[in-house]
Parts: sequence; C-alpha cells; structure tokens
Amino acid sequence: MGFDTIITNGRVVTATDTYTSDVAITEGKIAAIGQGLPRDNARKIIDAAGKYVFPGGIDVHTHLDMPFGGTTSSDDFETGTRAAAFGGTTTLIDFAIQYKGQTLREALDNWMKKAEGKAVCDYSFHCIITDLADAQIDEMNALVREGVTSFKLFMAYPGVFMLDDASIFKALRATGQNGGLVCMHAENGGAIDVIVRQALAEGKKAPKYHALTRPTTAEAEATARAIALAEMAGSPVYIVHMSCNDALEKVREARDRGVPVYGETCPQYLYLSIENFDVPGFEGAKYVFTPPLREKWHQEKLWNGLKRDHLQVVSTDHCPFCFKEQKELGRDDFTKIPNGGPGIEHRMSLIYSGGVAQGRFSVNRCVELVSTTPAKLFGLYPRKGTIATGSDADLVIFDPERKHTISAKTHHMRVDYSMFEGIEVRGMPDQVLSRGRMIVDRDEFLGRAGSGEFLRRSTYSQP
Ligand code: URP
Ligand code: ZN
Ligand code: ZN
Repeated sequence: MGFDTIITNGRVVTATDTYTSDVAITEGKIAAIGQGLPRDNARKIIDAAGKYVFPGGIDVHTHLDMPFGGTTSSDDFETGTRAAAFGGTTTLIDFAIQYKGQTLREALDNWMKKAEGKAVCDYSFHCIITDLADAQIDEMNALVREGVTSFKLFMAYPGVFMLDDASIFKALRATGQNGGLVCMHAENGGAIDVIVRQALAEGKKAPKYHALTRPTTAEAEATARAIALAEMAGSPVYIVHMSCNDALEKVREARDRGVPVYGETCPQYLYLSIENFDVPGFEGAKYVFTPPLREKWHQEKLWNGLKRDHLQVVSTDHCPFCFKEQKELGRDDFTKIPNGGPGIEHRMSLIYSGGVAQGRFSVNRCVELVSTTPAKLFGLYPRKGTIATGSDADLVIFDPERKHTISAKTHHMRVDYSMFEGIEVRGMPDQVLSRGRMIVDRDEFLGRAGSGEFLRRSTYSQP
C-alpha cells in the first residue's frame, strides 16, 4: 500500500530541528518521515527541493465576521480562512463574543454558525466574557470540558467589553482550577476614556488621536495588573497584542520570577509605527486599531523580545474594516472609527522576512512563534504545530528566496487597503496543505468552503 502524498527532499523545520527529508501523508495525517521513502503507488509527489517544509501556521487571534464599532469585520469565515491559507496559516482561533445577558453557550453557538460550511481550514474559538455572573463560572468549567479551553477578557472598552477587576479575578481563579487559559486585552480602559473625552473636548478628532490618547503606560499598567491578578488566582495568563516595550518589560520581569505569563505581539507592531499617521486627510484611519501604533523604537524591542522568549507568539489580531464605508464612519470623530486592521494573510512571510531573512532569529524560532507555541499553549499540540508521524498533515512548502511586495491589489483579504502596502517580504508559501489536501498552490486556491473542522482543544500546557 502506498502513501497518498509524498513531499520529497524538502528541508523539514520544526521548533527544534532542521533536516532534509521526505514527508509522507496518508488519510490527512503524517504517516512517515525519512529519506528515500518508497514512491511507488503514491498518488501525488510534491518536489520540495530547495524549499522549507513548515508545520502549518496557527493564528490564535482573529476576528472574522465580528460586529464591532457599528459595523462588521469585512472578512467572513470563508474569505478570511482563504486569505489565511494563502499566507500559510492552516488553523485559526477566533473569538465568540458573549454579549451582556447572554450565556457563554449562546455565544459559542452563534459563532459556530458563522463558521460552519464556510471555513476552508480548521478553526476553534476562545470565548469572550463580558458579563460574569456566578453561573458563568460553571459554564466556563463546562466549556473547558468540551474543548473550548480559553477565554478573552478585556480591561479596555468600558461599557462595551470591559470587565471589572473582581470579575477578572474570578475568571482567572476558575481557569487556575479548570486548566483553561485567559487571554487578556491589557489596557487601562478607565484612564483612556478620560483622556479620550478631553481630546474630543479640545477638538482633537483626527485618526492620529486614537493613538495619542492611549499611552503606553496604560498598556503597561494593565499588563502588570493582569499579571498580579493571575498570580493571586494561581493561574497562567496570556497577554494579547502587545504593542510596546513598557508592557513587554512587565511580562519579562514576571517571567524572570517564574510566573506563567505569556506575551503575544502582531506584525503591525513590528513593522508600523505612529509615523504611519503622517498621511494626508483621513488616511490615518487605516491604522486605527487597539492597542495603537507606537513610536518606532518599540519595534526593535519587540523583535528582541521574540528572539529572547520574553514574547512567545505572533498572531495577527486580524479585524478588517474597509476604508470606504467602514473606517469612514469615524471621519469626523476618531472614536467612531471601527478599531481593527487586516493582516491574516501576511504573518508567516512578515515574521520569516523580518525575523529570519534579516538575521534576528533562527528559522526554528520562526516556526515556534507562528505555529508550535500557539499549538502548545492552546491545547492543539501535537495534532497541530509540528511535523511528526501521527500529526495532522497541515504543511507549508515555503520558498525562503521568493520575494513579494504586499499590496491590496494582489492580496486575498476582503478589504480595500493593506496596512503593509509596498513592504517587500523575502520568503513566501508556495504550497499549503490542510490535513493532506493541497488548498493553495502558489496563486491558485484549491480549497473548499466548509472543509475546515471545528477543533476541540486540550487544556493549557506550558510550552
Ligand atoms: O483594534 C482591535 N484590536 N480590534 C479587535 C478587537 C481587539 O481588541 O482585539
Ligand atoms: Zn483586544
Ligand atoms: Zn483582537
């Protein structure tokens, strides 16, 4: 009996090893790894000589089809996962929002419906908790038992998503016991609200004031508070979308003390800065997301944090809104600009290009940041996040030399601009396989809406 597919002669890369090998696939799983695997009867042979073979990317922070800021993010589960696939991401974890008065189960059911029949790659959900009565603690325990093992809490957006410290503490105590993981949006929402109101009163309404009213100290203070609450609760905590050195320092200090805190950053904070607001008219709205862009010097601190394991994960926080009609809702008032930016497609290339091609860290570290650690932290490992016999054959054949200039003219996301317009990356996915099926071959999409499966996850484990 032969294999379904053999990928021949690629440089296989995991978080720990790089070696030349064939990788054989049967029934969607990696069946064998070794040199000179028998090719007879293989239905498909993919020549990967001169290319890397990576485990599929795992993006643990996306917002597809999400109502927010008076509109809905412009990619749904079909267009968003398709764009993700073009960029080498084969698994994503999106967010199911519990609105006030709803149960967590209702939130999950709503988001399951959004994804079913649409996702082209595998997916799961974190549950956003905005209303935490005692009943929701029982629900958290039940969801963890059912494989929804992470939750997002907000220390920002008062009146919308923000939770008070007591509720945050209760949720952390629950995950400390049930094995789940809290993802924290760490910004001091109360203080920011006061600064925002003052800016509006002074007539400061342009997009750049979104950034200027959210100081790095507000992010650092909330990060430190989240860590302190987690320590008191005896729980790990994962800080999402970290944008600045001030917050990074809080994570580094705690990790040095042995506290199980983890930090995530996103390509926008590594490539863009407050200088992006120096554009004519309302164009700056393209860069309105939260936390905001910072002064340029923070970028190198974040890259260094990734290199030295002060930060563990790169996600995208993909939350696209079209410039026309959606971002424009805030033309006269930056607080009405829907917060979020598009990036689901470019994470792997941006991190390879800036991280590996520019000599900041190894190719193994790149794989660890975009695939292996996300899989471990969020209960998907070793099914996802590595190349090993028995793992899902989610694989990316990656050309380390192929150059590409990012542009809205060529990207696959359903949004009318690119945050990374004109940036040239070195390193691009050539072919992408999801559970053994080729879903992308260079510029061609071969996947099918609805072929992505919902993933039940294990509880958190230390990476
Ligand atoms: O601006 C952002 N980041 N929008 C998405 C929601 C969030 O806070 O992650
Ligand atoms: Zn957030
Ligand atoms: Zn987000």
